[in-house]
Amino acid sequence: MLDNKKTNNNKYKSPNRSVSDKTKHYLDLDAQYVNPVLDRYTDIVAVRGKGAYVYDVNGDAFLDLGSGIAVNSLGHCHPAVVSAIQEQAAELIHTSVTTHHVRYIELAQKLAEISPGNLDSVFLSNSGAEALEGAVKLARYVTGRPALINFRGSFHGRTLLSVALTTSKLYFRERLEPLPGPIYTAPFPYTFRSAFPKDPNACVKDCLHQLRLLLHQFVDPQQVAAMIIEPIQGEGGYVVPPPGFFSELREITSSHGILLIVDEVQSGFCRTGKMFAIEHENIVPDIMFAAKGIAGGMPLSAIIASKDLTSQWKPARHGSTFGGNPVSCAAALATIKVMQEEKLAQRAEKLGNQMLARLKKFAEGRQYIGDVRGRGLMIGIEFNRPDGQPSRPITKHVMQKCLENKLLVINCGEHGQVIRLIPPLTISDSELEKACEILEKSMDIKEGEIIHE
Ligand SMILES: Cc1ncc(COP(=O)(O)O)c(C=O)c1O
Repeated sequence: MLDNKKTNNNKYKSPNRSVSDKTKHYLDLDAQYVNPVLDRYTDIVAVRGKGAYVYDVNGDAFLDLGSGIAVNSLGHCHPAVVSAIQEQAAELIHTSVTTHHVRYIELAQKLAEISPGNLDSVFLSNSGAEALEGAVKLARYVTGRPALINFRGSFHGRTLLSVALTTSKLYFRERLEPLPGPIYTAPFPYTFRSAFPKDPNACVKDCLHQLRLLLHQFVDPQQVAAMIIEPIQGEGGYVVPPPGFFSELREITSSHGILLIVDEVQSGFCRTGKMFAIEHENIVPDIMFAAKGIAGGMPLSAIIASKDLTSQWKPARHGSTFGGNPVSCAAALATIKVMQEEKLAQRAEKLGNQMLARLKKFAEGRQYIGDVRGRGLMIGIEFNRPDGQPSRPITKHVMQKCLENKLLVINCGEHGQVIRLIPPLTISDSELEKACEILEKSMDIKEGEIIHE
């Protein structure tokens, strides 16, 4: 029935969705003036957003389960965030390191309060990739060691170092070598696509065995500054590691003086049912970095480590002109306040459990839905060809059907074979119900319906 041809073309435009002249006008200008390297998931030309909806140039409303790729956790233009931005913009927009500023200090204190364990010292920057760069610089500076270990299927960003640490898809690295190193890659416990699809414990055991071999045969652990890992893989396919993996990893890193750096860019800020996803694992990393959901849509990222560690990093060894901009900090303070007051971590857990149970039930008896997994409101649905191999065409079909019904969903995974559901944490029960209905209708695929690639 299906073909799984790999392609770089990540367009999921729906042929059955009519595109208005106004939309076409902007798409034509986009094609003329925007660097084509900037890929988009849909042909929606957005002008406005409110709550769980994004509106296009025609005034059409799309129920948005992509949340600006896990950024709009409070939905679009949350009133508390909008007021915080407006008030701050009228007071102070930028000083950078020419001064201290109040919002930076307040946000650093707040992030220290909500971060796990002894992580209490904060550096602010603008994007996930920039935070990763800083986290690795900190680890190398403090340990004096060169090497890094990453995990297969990881995604850490688009700068050269973050691309070097990214292995979720080949095309992120295409024609870019030589990339920064030395970097050694260990397997991530992706049970469903492992040699032990029905046995998470065996999968974990095998991954840890491979990691120990890596430290025995490939790289001297005394040369390794850090291991960098996502608590739940995002772009790699919404892969939740089975219990036990992270506790062992913590032991291995500590025993060799290797720093454990956790990338909470996609999974942080209540998304998975806790403020940070690593809290599900009951371990404390040495360095954590976060971005996306931190500031209600404003660009901001944070590196958070213990004061013991950061006090060894001498002043001016790292910096950022725009990092910790007062407007972004004010937006972050407002965002975190709403998250805490409205108990959005608990809401993510509750809605996530309901949604996961519902989708798992829907998948029963449908062979083309290989796996439904996730934690909180970070849910992945993985599609299979009849031979069990990953299927991108089914994902494409489902995304198109959703779009025709004004539901915006995006995908991920090595082959683009996983639909990732990242609704705003503030989505109402009825909006989520509507989203599930459209999604289920779109996933109800009849034999022969899939377009071969
Ligand atoms: C887990 C993870 N780390 C890092 C990044 C890079 O973040 P940014 O695009 O803000 O540089 C992303 C972006 O998708 C991500 O999902």
